[in-house]
Amino acid sequence: MLKLAVLVSGGGTNLQALIDQIEQNKLTGVKIEVVISNKAGVQALTRAKQHGIPSEVILKKEYTETEEFGEALLKLLDRYQVDLIVLAGCLFIIPEQIIESYRNRIINIHPALIPAFCGDGYYGLKVHKAVLARGVKVTGATVHFVDEGTDTGPIILQKAVNVQPGDTPELLQQRVMEQAEWELLPMAVQLIADNRIMVEDNIVIIKDTIME
Ligand code: GRF
Repeated sequence: MLKLAVLVSGGGTNLQALIDQIEQNKLTGVKIEVVISNKAGVQALTRAKQHGIPSEVILKKEYTETEEFGEALLKLLDRYQVDLIVLAGCLFIIPEQIIESYRNRIINIHPALIPAFCGDGYYGLKVHKAVLARGVKVTGATVHFVDEGTDTGPIILQKAVNVQPGDTPELLQQRVMEQAEWELLPMAVQLIADNRIMVEDNIVIIKDTIME
């Protein structure tokens, strides 16, 4: 059983996609042990509660140093004995000690086709605003491993989504979530649960068969 910690900051629609697929037995061999938010009162926490999933809130402002915040988050993660950390609409920077302790065991969903429209300042609606401002005709989503950089880790899965005439950032965000994010994130978790992912020279290799 692959045990997950899902890190959230807001709406939690990607968390909901994981919950739904697990409950419908479409995503198997996976259990969400804990949902961790850096903000109190967000809808993602309500979603966890509605599905009987333990949740924790860790407020960065309660720690003077990033180091202390990192240590507190590490203790929390270790307490739940998780195998994989999933960033699902998570808007806080993951401290170094977490990256080191969970090397290639942290994944993130980014609402664009990395290396386009990613990096510092590209998150949430800002991504889709930049996509529309540039006039690209195709965007999408990417699931990648998290390393010390911002959106720079090895890419696991990507899916393209067409930009449509008259799109607003909100309409485009919804389409990217519906057509790409909510599909790719559970798919990536299943590949990891089935031990079908290898990383060689920072390139992800997806094995055809389940590796014992
Ligand atoms: C979405 O745009 C997602 O791509 C990004 O954060 C936003 C909210 O995600 N990672 P969620 O609804 O909180 O899962």
